[in-house]
Amino acid sequence: MEKKIVFSGVQPSGGLTIGNYIGAIKNWIDLQDKYDCYYSIVDLHAITVPQVPKDLRKNTLDLLAIYSACGLDPEKSTIFIQSHVPAHAELTWVLNTITYMGQLSRMTQFKEKSRKSKENLNAGLFTYPVLMAADILLYQTELVPVGEDQKQHLELARDLAERFNNRYSPTFKVPEPLIKEEGARIMSLQDPESKMSKSDENENGYILILDEPDAIRRKIKRAVTDSIGEIKYNDEQLGIKNLINIYSAFSGDSIEEIENRYKGVGYGKFKEDLAEVVIEGLMPIQKKYKEIINNKDYLEKVYREGAEKANYIANKTLRKVYKKVGFIQR
Ligand code: TYM
Repeated sequence: MEKKIVFSGVQPSGGLTIGNYIGAIKNWIDLQDKYDCYYSIVDLHAITVPQVPKDLRKNTLDLLAIYSACGLDPEKSTIFIQSHVPAHAELTWVLNTITYMGQLSRMTQFKEKSRKSKENLNAGLFTYPVLMAADILLYQTELVPVGEDQKQHLELARDLAERFNNRYSPTFKVPEPLIKEEGARIMSLQDPESKMSKSDENENGYILILDEPDAIRRKIKRAVTDSIGEIKYNDEQLGIKNLINIYSAFSGDSIEEIENRYKGVGYGKFKEDLAEVVIEGLMPIQKKYKEIINNKDYLEKVYREGAEKANYIANKTLRKVYKKVGFIQR
């Protein structure tokens, strides 16, 4: 039996947070044994906000090293850089022609980004979810492991697959999101009502995968909590709820185990322990990252081989699409 196909990606826009790790990458590791997985570094997406070219190059290789350090294995999965597979941009164009403006203007992420960056409201930001749909549909993906914030984009990918299949003939698999219940939305340490994000102006709001132990201790110590004083997982205590989620993700302990362990214990002690749990969880990743990042030959081998395989599969789908819309074969 053929293995189901999994696709996901992260933007190389610098500094990956533990939100990216818990909500996405951490869940990708186990999928590698069961499915045929494609994990991309989505640099075409990254340029929808201004990037310094040399930083983008560095961040792309950094992200590849982080993928490896987290346990993505090029022997098992196809790991590649999005811009190395031209079919992504080509399919995006075709999908653009069946995407309604109204649907794109209802995308929460677009609305948020356009509120924040009025002076750079480029067309790429608007059609960003169409590129994401192309990423997914090119590989006949069935499962897309992402954090909660990508759910709406996934709906669009499903809609476009169905619309194309209906208008022409069955061409794309209709993908399903794979969103874990816990950890799918890690919140800012400074404002537990908004998502943890690397674009937060306040660096105390997020922890980066590559943060030093002292920075992790400091940020967790300053994390916003409440005056209730109990370690309980509930919506009245969003700060504590978020910290329990982080604790659970890194320790593997269940929410109940954590609540029981910290019954009657103060926030100070809980935060100290949490910091150590996070530091310990990130240590092997940071260590491996430092080994890999200087091995440019290895990194190059991984992304070249990944691109070769990805191009082969993506072009198969693109050829079908071009034929169906009526383009003369090249
Ligand atoms: P990006 O780069 O913003 O984030 C990468 C992944 O991390 C998840 N994530 C979070 N999960 C939990 N809590 C958080 N605070 C948090 N912040 C981020 C995201 O949900 C995502 O899974 N558009 C995508 C990248 C992309 C993609 C794709 C994903 C492009 N093409 C195709 C899947 C399939 C993005 O910007 O993710």
